[in-house]
Amino acid sequence: MSAELSPIDKAKFAAAKRAVGYVKDGMKVGLGTGSTAAWMVRCLAERAQREGLKLQCVPTSTRTAKLAGDLGLKVIPLDEAKWLDLTIDGTDEFDGDLNLIKGGGGALLQEKIVATASDQMIVIADVSKKVEALGAFPLPVEVIPFGWQTTKALLEELLESLDVMGRSTSLRMNGDAAYVTDEGNHILDLHLNRIGDARQLAMALNQIPGIVENGLFIDICDVVVLGSGDGSIQVHDINQGTIGEDKIDFLETDNLFTDLAD
Ligand code: A5P
Repeated sequence: MSAELSPIDKAKFAAAKRAVGYVKDGMKVGLGTGSTAAWMVRCLAERAQREGLKLQCVPTSTRTAKLAGDLGLKVIPLDEAKWLDLTIDGTDEFDGDLNLIKGGGGALLQEKIVATASDQMIVIADVSKKVEALGAFPLPVEVIPFGWQTTKALLEELLESLDVMGRSTSLRMNGDAAYVTDEGNHILDLHLNRIGDARQLAMALNQIPGIVENGLFIDICDVVVLGSGDGSIQVHDINQGTIGEDKIDFLETDNLFTDLAD
């Protein structure tokens, strides 16, 4: 497998493969969204099939639901699961406190609801996602379509009073039309460059009527599994205060995953 994949895809695969090791028989598992999470769904389906694991999976987007269902995982809605043992998801950025920016793939609302309804959130990432301070990646904010331009103006006014380096905002587009989330909302991307106080920003954003949720995940992630292209793994555990080392072998049997690279 390793010959056909880019180093970044090998890193994502390694993190995904290591993270599905946290899943135990009978668990209810939240499935994230994005290219790294897609690797995880494939690894989880393969493991569930090989070991006969009985899992109930709650996806965080329509595209993850389709992938998981196509691969034979049992998919149920969150309201049926009510509470989850574990959620595994990707991220756009993570800092030293394992706070995150998520939503580059537009699924931040369901991702935050599902992760918050889980005993544990494990994030899978390659090294490009690790930052000193959050904010280089544009912060996604989900807004309802009604009055979104007024919401945007209020948001820009708020940013004037906060410790951020950049203050421009843009409506996420899908071709010529505004991007529409699974919940029928739009996304404003905030180009902040560097966020001084992510916790304060996350709370302030959600006070504005019209904002449904923001992509800052503060005190939600428990573990980041960081993969590298050579299969080496770092496991950052915020509750234990530890960083462990591990290594994933790229096996011939992993060839069945090559169609997933995107
Ligand atoms: C989806 O809305 C996002 O939160 C993704 O989890 C995040 O953008 C990471 O995506 P990749 O794994 O594709 O980089």
